[in-house]
Amino acid sequence: MGIDEIVVGLDIGSGKVCTVVGELSEDDQIEIIGIGTVPSLGIKKGVIVDLEQAIQSVKESIESAKRMAGIRINSAFVSITGSHITSANSKGVIAISDKSPEITENDIGKVIEAAKAGIVSSEKELIHTLSREFIVDGQSGISDPLGMSGARLECKVHIITGSITAVQNLVKCVEASGLDIEEIIFGTLASSNSILSNAEKELGILLVDIGAGTTEIAIFVEGGLAYSAVLPVGGVQITNDLAVGLRTSIEEAEKIKISYGTAVENSASPEKLVEISSVNGKEKHNVSQKFLVEIIEPRVSEIFNFVGMEVKKSGCYNMIPGGIVITGGSSLLPGISEVAEQVLNLPSRLGRPHYEGELADMINDPSYSEAIGLLSFATEKYSIGRSFQSTKRKTGVKNIFTKIISWLKDFF
Ligand SMILES: Nc1ncnc2c1ncn2[C@@H]1O[C@H](COP(=O)(O)OP(=O)(O)OP(=O)(O)O)[C@@H](O)[C@H]1O
Ligand SMILES: [Mg+2]
Repeated sequence: MGIDEIVVGLDIGSGKVCTVVGELSEDDQIEIIGIGTVPSLGIKKGVIVDLEQAIQSVKESIESAKRMAGIRINSAFVSITGSHITSANSKGVIAISDKSPEITENDIGKVIEAAKAGIVSSEKELIHTLSREFIVDGQSGISDPLGMSGARLECKVHIITGSITAVQNLVKCVEASGLDIEEIIFGTLASSNSILSNAEKELGILLVDIGAGTTEIAIFVEGGLAYSAVLPVGGVQITNDLAVGLRTSIEEAEKIKISYGTAVENSASPEKLVEISSVNGKEKHNVSQKFLVEIIEPRVSEIFNFVGMEVKKSGCYNMIPGGIVITGGSSLLPGISEVAEQVLNLPSRLGRPHYEGELADMINDPSYSEAIGLLSFATEKYSIGRSFQSTKRKTGVKNIFTKIISWLKDFF
């Protein structure tokens, strides 16, 4: 199998660095053959704050994935997050030449450039320009206007930018770890690829990825990304609150959160006593599980209040009948979905990847949504590239595309 058939996703999170290696088979199915997950150092709130430490963690993650896969890897699709990420919607308009009223690739490029003008500045690095819809002579809802006739072409885009320094540090970190970057992808956009169906994106839905140091938000309306934001809060704050409230160490608080933590009273047992070690580890005291709820619930509510403010800012509250999908490692906290429903008054469900291969037990965990989503992006790109190269293939590009993604999305 040639090197083109190996696809790699690299998620550099605040809590863990994760490298996932996939192999594209002859029949365009992906098999995950390597995973390397290590605790991340030098990353805070999604951003590299200590380059040397971050490189060390990324190297370890890559090495571990390579060992498991038993192959060399050269490049990866890498996710980016952090509150430096900003997004905006914009619109471009151009006139189509009278001489050839058929819309060409050149016209599409021009209208997208027009939409970017004024939004993209030299102080920010452009991460994505996502076309939401094209409008030809007033006719809206067009996803691909190529070859259509018309005199006026409009395009609505969603533009995601990030701090130049943060992007440059990410590039430095990955390259110093021995990999070339194929593409940098906004984290929640990646997650959305592994856990949301196209039908949900069409209906309108809010995706919330609560990790260790960030809460990433993406709102999909009519199939496209309409709003995105990154908040600098996550599971770390819940753990810190527990450490303070229980007078214990961060390490102990993290263990207590994972073993006994819950965000709602009805899933806590009033009789259940949890033993807590003091900060120095010498004394022990007991608290009820209900007491843990008293510490955890306000922070979880606060996170969803922040999410609510973003939804309000987006103006999309009435456009997301699909409700909320919560993913990321912190979505494993029992009761989190109930709190989201109470605060945002929207139906809520948990989202995780639905891979059916050999490593499914490991991968179908909400903290892998982003890494698996990256793999799905990589797969789309490679699959389309291969289908263009192949002269023997009878299937059209769209069919291959649909087939490849089906392993991730056809689970509803
Ligand atoms: N069972 C659990 N209950 C509560 N929280 C959990 C549980 N399991 C993991 N977490 C929390 O999930 C967080 C890690 O999630 P994840 O792996 O998605 O983060 P990350 O991608 O490294 O960080 P970020 O995306 O914020 O940069 C940690 O704060 C951890 O405490
Ligand atoms: Mg993450």
